[in-house]
Amino acid sequence: MATVRASIHGQWSTRLAFILAATGSAVGLGNIWKFPYIAGENGGGAFVLVYLGCIAIIGIPIMMSEVMLGRRGRQSPINTMHTLASEENVSPHWKWLGWAGVVSGFLILSYYSVIAGWALAYVFRTGSGLITGQTADGIQSIFSDLVSDPERLLAWHTIFMVMTMTVVARGVRSGLERAVRLLMPALFVLLIVLVGYAWNTGSFDQGVDFLFTPDFSKIDADGVLTAMGHAFFTLSLGMGAIMVYGSYLPDNVSIAKTSIAVSAMDTLVALLAGMAIFPIVFANGLEPGAGPGLIFQTLPIAFGHMDYGAFFGMLFFILLVFAAWTSAISLIEPAVAWLVENRGMNRVFASAVAGLATWLFGLLTVFSFNIWADVKLLSGIKVFQDSTIFDLLDYLTANIMLPLGGLLIAVFAVWQMSRNSSVDELSMGDGFFYKIWRFLVKYITPVAVFIVFLNAVGIIDLNG
Ligand code: PHE
Repeated sequence: MATVRASIHGQWSTRLAFILAATGSAVGLGNIWKFPYIAGENGGGAFVLVYLGCIAIIGIPIMMSEVMLGRRGRQSPINTMHTLASEENVSPHWKWLGWAGVVSGFLILSYYSVIAGWALAYVFRTGSGLITGQTADGIQSIFSDLVSDPERLLAWHTIFMVMTMTVVARGVRSGLERAVRLLMPALFVLLIVLVGYAWNTGSFDQGVDFLFTPDFSKIDADGVLTAMGHAFFTLSLGMGAIMVYGSYLPDNVSIAKTSIAVSAMDTLVALLAGMAIFPIVFANGLEPGAGPGLIFQTLPIAFGHMDYGAFFGMLFFILLVFAAWTSAISLIEPAVAWLVENRGMNRVFASAVAGLATWLFGLLTVFSFNIWADVKLLSGIKVFQDSTIFDLLDYLTANIMLPLGGLLIAVFAVWQMSRNSSVDELSMGDGFFYKIWRFLVKYITPVAVFIVFLNAVGIIDLNG
């Protein structure tokens, strides 16, 4: 029998609503902005293969665990962990796992919002026809003009944060569910249009080859860590976003099936984005390892040369903003839910507090692309010698905090929670599929995360 607790924040109206919200959280800048550029920086095929392996073997089982814990606890991740720990008679310190998630979400959103601001800016840069007919060089300088201007970045970051907190303030159901229902399919269609354009660049094979032919000499331990970290990042795992969404999930929904569906859609979007971008990269003699600016330096070339490119370009960046928006709200929802539960704030006030703090912290990222571009805090360590504050924040959250959070979620779900509790909450019986899940979460995930960490730490030490 499932638990009788109910969430004070409300509940998703249907299973589909949860799938859409969780997909909305998962599909975001991670798929379209980040995946292509880190795949490019890490040599392509081998990286992609490791990433896909991590999604299947680590990502899906952890997503199931996170949804399971959330639905059983039915509160913010901090209180959920606290409640479940006391029900299972284990250490109350597990609530710190909830806290770590809140901190990760806060740190990620602080830079996520700045990048989403770039996408907002590009809605206007493409829509106004600025990119029409431009060469790769012209497109490149449009991008550097934007990021080198702290005022403009600050303005877009501010607008995006206001958009995010407005939705969060309105709560679980209103607006959000409806928006995702329409926008996700539209984004998908437009990506396919872009893949169609890439098909005709003459470099489609080269792009696909880069993405899917593994060459393991091109990836090192740090690259493997990045691939694994990205599996967590792209599925929104390891920080409580999926846990808090799970806490609004009705009792009768299959956790396994929904987790698989969400992960599959997320992966498909990332691969489509890669297949759209790399052919354009090669056709125009650009660098696959160009870094965070990659999509902003490639896709506008395509839009600048296709019929109605200004219109399609604008549409694409609008959809990208929406994808980022539905992810951003899930990054801050754990914090807001906690402020409402434990500090007695109403949702609007809690959103304002959380949003303001995140906005302020986001200034670090805003400046790390211009006036602080030369500030390299950890330049003494080889892997970080060129890392800006933004790079470090990204590394700390995606490569360290999320995998660690995911690892602890796995440990709690199978080593601390009783078998009866998980059988009960997952409601898929005690058979074959349950056993696979349990095996993966119990042994494979912890060992894999641990080994990858150890190797990466080795690399940092050796070169340091
Ligand atoms: N999954 C989101 C993306 O790919 C980012 C995210 C990470 C959202 C962690 C919530 C939690 O863009």
